[in-house]
Parts: sequence; structure tokens; C-alpha cells
Amino acid sequence: MPITFEKGTGTFHLYNDHISYVIRLAAGSYPLHVYWGRRVHAVSEDVLARLTPYTDATFSLHETPLDRLPQECPVFGGADLREGMLHIRHADGTSALDLRYAGHRISQGKPKLEGLPCARGEGAQTLTITLCDAPSGITVELAYTLYEDIDIIARSMRIVNSGMQSVQIDRALSACVDFEQADFSLLTLSGAWARERAPYMRPLVPGDQGTSTARGASSVQTSPFMALLAPNADETHGDVYGFALCYSGSFTANVHVDQQFMARAQIGIQPFNFCWTLEAGASFQTPEAYLVYAPDGLGGMSRQFHALVHRHITSSRYANTARPLLVNNWEATYFQFDEEKLLSLARCAKDVGIDLFVLDDGWFGHRDDDHSSLGDWFDDLHKLPGGLTRLSEQIHALGMKFGLWVEPEMISPDSDLYRAHPDWCIHVPGRERLESRHQLVLDLSRSDVRDYIVEVITAALRRGHVDYVKWDMNRNISMWGSAALPPERQQELGHRYILGLYDVMGRIVSAFPDVLFESCAGGGGRFDLGLMCFMPQAWCSDDTDAWMRCRIQSGTSLVFPPSTMGAHVSAVPNHQTGRITPLFTRAAVAMGGTYGYELDLTKLPQEELDEIRALNRRVKAMQPLLLYGTFYRLRSPFTGSDAAWMSVSQDRSEAVVTYVLSLAEPNVQPKLLRLEGLDPDRRYRDEDSGGVYGGDELMFRGIPLKKPWGDFVAQQFHLTAEA
Ligand code: GLA
Repeated sequence: MPITFEKGTGTFHLYNDHISYVIRLAAGSYPLHVYWGRRVHAVSEDVLARLTPYTDATFSLHETPLDRLPQECPVFGGADLREGMLHIRHADGTSALDLRYAGHRISQGKPKLEGLPCARGEGAQTLTITLCDAPSGITVELAYTLYEDIDIIARSMRIVNSGMQSVQIDRALSACVDFEQADFSLLTLSGAWARERAPYMRPLVPGDQGTSTARGASSVQTSPFMALLAPNADETHGDVYGFALCYSGSFTANVHVDQQFMARAQIGIQPFNFCWTLEAGASFQTPEAYLVYAPDGLGGMSRQFHALVHRHITSSRYANTARPLLVNNWEATYFQFDEEKLLSLARCAKDVGIDLFVLDDGWFGHRDDDHSSLGDWFDDLHKLPGGLTRLSEQIHALGMKFGLWVEPEMISPDSDLYRAHPDWCIHVPGRERLESRHQLVLDLSRSDVRDYIVEVITAALRRGHVDYVKWDMNRNISMWGSAALPPERQQELGHRYILGLYDVMGRIVSAFPDVLFESCAGGGGRFDLGLMCFMPQAWCSDDTDAWMRCRIQSGTSLVFPPSTMGAHVSAVPNHQTGRITPLFTRAAVAMGGTYGYELDLTKLPQEELDEIRALNRRVKAMQPLLLYGTFYRLRSPFTGSDAAWMSVSQDRSEAVVTYVLSLAEPNVQPKLLRLEGLDPDRRYRDEDSGGVYGGDELMFRGIPLKKPWGDFVAQQFHLTAEA
């Protein structure tokens, strides 16, 4: 039994072969955080007695003892004066809460969360601890799921109003871990459009630190993730504690270091611009958070997150299969295309071995630029005289699959939809409707809006007989306001929007079980575990420059495996940076994700088309390994002039290593690159050069790199173990 309860000491122990997580009820009432880390048999020391003058028998809330104790569910309004997981305003306007243990249950598997996506629970056990504030009737259920096959604990909180009056929830986070020490470094991800998810690290200091967003999306600016690294921990060594949230909206991930140098790490829905009215009898479910403990550095943490995604998050039938090689017409044509142009691109793509043709923005309404037509999901018969149906037939007749871009959450002021329903967008009456990319955001808190989206998008996907969908979202929300919500519920809009999004996505995705869905948000603006539950891959960034992609994909890989990262070969000079990189480098970097092309193949010389044909054969031969292999970051493009990573098959019989050097220098000797994850006792053959090396030699000494020549040159090694 991986979850046990010892009644005498009130101790819960969640453990698998590698990790332990220990909770103890102080005075039978307050769940204290006792331990999280490498597997232990038990924790015998009494935290309560060590940190306060009290014992279980003499415990009293006077002299604020909770303020000095590491807790599992700290709340504001009682004997803990720090910011906690939950802040409630009762009907009388006050906020006192005294949550005490009221019971628990241990169940097999993992319950679903109402209205929210979450990981599945094969082979898992779940502990639910119920706490109750007797005077108000507020009840809290803390859920902890322990997995056997990964070193992850999933946590969430459900708040039930069992009182007689409605209350306001000002803050309801998903997880809190009170570490007794604060000697950690904090790692978070930050960025911008075309520069998503760069890692930033700093030592913890007293006070608050972390990352958050209030943009209504998990965003390009940050990511719902943070990690704490013990002193001397790095990519390959040391204790790392990772936190990630299964949520696509505004969030906070924060660490507060208090007067005792304890570190309170919390993650959940952004409390700023959030308030929720909880009627008597109603409940509120927080999103799920994933807590990873890894003793083997950031690399170990990432491999746990990757295993979570592959085994328990992605559910599409494409989740663990090869993905089609695609060509997308966006950077090839932008809005300027007609049926013949698309077909000539598709024919050329078919000829070089590409499987899927994706029609991007501009096929509907009268959209010749980004000023109009979002919401009018009807074929533009000027560009496509036979509509989606005929185009799709012609693509299918070539023996290719057909994919389509949509942006269902948006509305252009210049659209028939807007003229018919001007109140369907998020807006504040009497104030200017602030456009971004000339568009407004549909109010997904409204069921009529959601039903419209489901109907019209479903019809387009059926009409186009699509095999693939790129679901885009190109702006964040401003001027928050819903015509359908009463004044006291306006601050629920951010979360209601995300609940509405999950409802719409769930309905559409489940209606097309054979379709491969890829999410997108102006590049990687909603790259989060919430959307991963619906769509197994996401467009990583609008930046297709190979060197920038080394960085973006490296930062993204802290949480997400290559199988989730849309990555395409594009034209040079690159459209975002003007940089010129060799075709092989662009391809080798795109092989770090779900592979495709985003350029006008019809304009390429024959020798490049021949190279692309060979590259496509190479990708197909290595694809399961590239996408689902055990992933190691070898060289960081953030700290040096090169980048390297590798994927190793489960049985360690095969590996692909990619190395990219940015700027060449003269008069340098070729270097060795140390590999990871191989079997030290086997010999590996490089399929390209024929060189044979011992696994131990490759890991402890390194694989010889070729002498670099030229900027942005990549080298790739496909290693197979000898029988
Ligand atoms: C966003 C996407 C791009 C492309 C355009 C189309 O920017 O990230 O890939 O689809 O929209 O307008």
C-alpha cells in the first residue's frame, strides 16, 4: 500500500519505490508538512514538539503556533499570519478560518476534477483529507495522488460551502509545500512573443519571489511552472523540487521566505482579478498541480514531467504513435494564396515524402489580412472556389492528409458574427473595446457563445474532412467584462473563460477522435499541461529560427517532452531574425519536436528538395525515438555558444544525439561531447559514420565531434547498440 495512515501519531505516509511524502496531524487537527524527498521508512521525529512549545495534548492556537509550523493547507484568517492557500470572505465580510481535520479516505486510482482537465490515474492511489471550519461550515478536501510509475504527486483542493450563506473566495490555490529550509535557488521560465520560455535562476531571499500572469492565458511571458534547486544542484545532480500546474489561464507560482527562513512554495489560479461567489451547498474545484522530487538534477525532474505527459496526460490516439510530417502554408504564402497555389505546394510536399498538408489562416470569410472575419467560419469561395470540401478532396487524392487552422475563441469587429452579436465579446459597456491584432475575445463564459463555436467549427471540420487541426489563440484579454455575468460575478470571468474553453475543446476534440489536434497561441502562448490533456502537441513558438529554437525548445523541455513541441523547418533568411542557417541545422533542430515544414517548397532548388526527401526518410526512421525517447539536455544554449540534446530508447538500444554550434571560431580543436543514458556495457554504432564506441566511453569520455566549419552548423549521431 503506497499510502498509509498511522492512527496513533496521525501520520500519513505516501511513498513509492523512490519518494516519500509525509503529513502529520498536529493535535489531531492541523495537517503539518513533515517530509518530501527520497524514500524513507518513516519520520519518527515530532515536528510539533521541536518547532513549538506544545505537544499534541497541550496544543493551543494562542501565541500563533501555526505561524511557525510547516503546513499542508495554510489559510489566512487564523493563527498563521502568512499568505496561505485559501482566503474566504464570509457573509459578514470577515475572513476567519480554522480548518481542522474531519476525516480522510484512501482510494484506488484518481477521481476526475469537475470541469477541469487532469492527469489520469492508472496504478495510482489517492488520499483525500477533509478539513472543516466548524463555525462557517466551509469544508476543504485536499487530494493527493501518488503514482507508482513516476515520482510525482498530483495535488488539488476542493472547497465546499456546507454553511447556510454564500461566501466569497478571494484566493484558492492548488498546492502548498512549506519547506523548513530556504537554501534553494528558484528557477522560473520567462519570455516574450518569439522568445518563449527562457530559464532564469536566482537564490531565494526573505520575502516573495516567483512568477505569475494576469493575462488570462498561461502566456508567452511566463509558464505555470517553477523549480527549487538545493545548493549545488544542476542539470545532472542534486535535489530538485518541480511544480507545474494543469491550467491554461492566469496563475501564480510563488515562494515566500519567512522570518524563520522557511520557504512556502505555492501554485494555483492567480488570485489577482479573481473572486468567486460560492453559494451555500456549492463547491469550487482548483486545478491540479504536479509536484516532482528528483535527486538527479533538472534533467531528472524533466524526465519525470515527460513521463507524466506521456503516460497520464495526453490521451489522443496519436499520443504514443508516430506523428505525420507536415507542411504548413503560413510562412510560404501568409494570406496570399488560391487553390492552385496550395495544390502546387501540396504536390511538391507529397513528392518529397511529406504526409500532411496544413491550410493556415485566411481560408474563411474575406480574410486577406488580419483585419477581418474571425468568427465567420465559412469558406472564402474567391480563394477556394470549391470550398474546403474540394480542396480537401484534392489533397486526399494526392495521398496526403488534410489539416486546417482555426481560431475559435476570437471575433473580428469586421465580421458578420460581430454585427449579429456585438455583446458576445469580452467588453465593458460604455468603454472602448480594445482590439489587439484587430480582434476581440469571445466571452466563453456564455453557453450560447460556446454552443455557436462548437457548431460552426464542427461543421468546418466535417466539411473539410480534416485529419489535423491547428487551434490558435492570438491575443490576451483586456477590458475584462461579461454581458452575461452580474456585477458580483465579474471577477469570475477569467476562470469561467478557461472552464468554457475546456468545455468547448472537450466537445470538439471528442467528436473527432481520429483527428490530430495541435494548440497554438501566437506561437507558444498557451503551452501548458491543461491544453495538453486535450491536444497532444502545441506550436512551440512563432520563431522558426534554428538557433532561437535551440533555446526555446531547451527551455520548454524543462517540463514538456519533444512529442509536444511543434517544430518546423522554415526558409532562410529566417522571417523572424533574418538569420541564415544551413538546411540540415534547421532540420536537426526541428527533429527536437513534431517535425514539419513552413516554407514554399516550390521555390527551392532541386538539390535542396533532394536533401529534404532524404531528411524526411531520416525523421521517419527515427521518429518514435525522437518523440518518446528518454530525453537528456547535454549542452545549454543559454550558457554557452552551443546546444546539444539526446533521446534514448527505453531499452537503451538506440539513441539520437544532436549538437548545434552557434558561431564558429578559428583555430579550435574538435571537442568531445559526453552522452547520457546509454548502457555502459554495450557497444554502439554510429549509423552515419560507421564508428563504433562503448557506451561507457560515450558517457564518461564523450563522442568525438567533427571539426566545426561555419556558423550554426549541426551534427547528429544516430546510435544503435550492437547485438
Ligand atoms: C499565429 C500563429 C501562426 C499563424 C498565424 C496566422 O501567429 O502562431 O503560426 O498561424 O497566427 O494568423
